[in-house]
Amino acid sequence: MNWLLAVVLTVFTIFSAGTQSHLPRESPINSLCADLIHPANYSCTEHTIQTKDGYILALQRVASSRTDNPSFQYGPPVLLQHGLFMAGDAWFLNSPKESLGFVLADHGFDVWVGNVRGTRYSYGHVTLSETDKEFWDWSWQDLAMFDLAEMIQYLYSISNSKIFLVGHSQGTIMSFTALTQPNVAEMVEAAALLCPISYLDHVTAPLVERMVFMHLDQMVLALGLHQINFRSETLVKLVDSLCEGHMDCTDFLTSITGKNCCFNASKIEYYLDYEPHPSSVKNIRHLFQMIRKGTFAQYDYGYLKNLLIYGLSKPPEFKLSLIPASLPMWMGYGGYDGLADVTDVEHTLAKLPTRPELLYLENYGHIDFVLSASAKEDVYKHMIQFFRAQRKYSSW
Ligand SMILES: *[C@@H]1O[C@H](CO)[C@@H](O)[C@H](O)[C@H]1NC(C)=O
Ligand SMILES: *[C@@H]1O[C@H](CO)[C@@H](O)[C@H](O)[C@H]1NC(C)=O
Repeated sequence: MNWLLAVVLTVFTIFSAGTQSHLPRESPINSLCADLIHPANYSCTEHTIQTKDGYILALQRVASSRTDNPSFQYGPPVLLQHGLFMAGDAWFLNSPKESLGFVLADHGFDVWVGNVRGTRYSYGHVTLSETDKEFWDWSWQDLAMFDLAEMIQYLYSISNSKIFLVGHSQGTIMSFTALTQPNVAEMVEAAALLCPISYLDHVTAPLVERMVFMHLDQMVLALGLHQINFRSETLVKLVDSLCEGHMDCTDFLTSITGKNCCFNASKIEYYLDYEPHPSSVKNIRHLFQMIRKGTFAQYDYGYLKNLLIYGLSKPPEFKLSLIPASLPMWMGYGGYDGLADVTDVEHTLAKLPTRPELLYLENYGHIDFVLSASAKEDVYKHMIQFFRAQRKYSSW
C-alpha cells in the first residue's frame, strides 16, 4: 500500500475509532538499583558515563554479597547489553534464581548493566532534551560505536581487566559492530550472544512484518514523531489500528517477537510495567531497511545524502570477518525466534571468521532467552561454563 494513503487511513482511525490499548501509559521507574536490585537484597551502585556525542548513560554494578564487607572481591567483569525496546531491567525481571543478572552475580561475576540512550534509565544529554528531534538522531550503529564502545572502555578502565560481553538481540548487532573495531575487540575477553542478529531478511514476527509492510517508520515521521514510545497515546493508537481486524495483538510481546515457549504469561502485566522502553524512529528505519534489503550495512540516507556522508551511493557494509578470529564467542538461538530467524543466524555464522560455540534450543523464542522461567538450566548454565572455560588457569 502507498504509505501516504496508509498515514491518512491511520490518522483517520486514530481520531475516529475508540481503541483500547494494552500497555500502561506510565511506568514506576526510579532507578534500576532502586526498582529491582535493592529490593532483592543485592548490592547495586549507579554509575553514569557521558558519550562523545553528549548522551548521559546509566550503568549499574550488581553483586550478590555485601560489597562493604572488607574481604569482598569482585570476580571477572561482565557487561550485559539489552535488546531493542528493552533496558537493563530486562535482566532482572524474574526471580533471583531465574534472572541472568542475578544468576551471574551469584556466580561471583562483577555484573555491569548497560542502558542505551533513549531508554528511561539513560534519558539525558548535555545539551539536548528528549523533546528535541536531534536527541533521537541515531540508530544501532551509533549505539554500537558510541554507547557500547564507551561502556566497554569504562569497565575496562575500572576493572583493569578484559571484560566478558553478553548481548541480547539488538545488543548482539551492537556487539558485532563494535567488535569489528580492533580497539574495542582488544578489551573483550569473550562474547556470549543471545538471539544474534546481523542479517534480518527472514524476520517472521507478525506485527513487525506488518509494520515493515505498512511503512510504520514513515508513518510516524509523517506524524512528526522522532521517538518510538509505545506508551505514548499516538503510538498506542497506531499499533491498535495496525492490529485491529488483522491480528491478535493482545499478547503484545508475541506479536512483535514471535512465539515463546517458556516465559510465565501471567507475569506479562508486570513485565509491561518495565518494557517496552523508547527507541528512535531512525533506529527502526535502519532495522526496516535491513529487513527489506537483507544487508548488514550503515544507515541508508538515499543516493545523494549517501554520497555526501559516505562518499558512496550505497551505505558501506559492516564486515563480520573483521572480528578477530581469536575472540571466543558463544551463541544461543531458538527455533521459534521471530526476529533472529535460524536462516539469518546461519548467514551470520557463514560470515564470521570462526565458528562460535552454539546452543540451539528448538522450542525457544526471542523473549525466552531473557525471561524464560527455565533459562538458568536451559541457557545460562552453559553460558557460565563457557565463560569459566576462558579462565581455567586463573584462581577464580
Ligand atoms: C531482604 O533482607 C531483609 C532484611 O534482612 C529481609 O527482611 C527481607 O525479607 C529480604 N528480602 C528478600 C527479597 O530476600
Ligand atoms: C507465574 O507467575 C505467577 C504470578 O507471578 C505465579 O503466581 C506463578 O507461580 C508463576 N508460575 C510459574 C510456573 O512459575
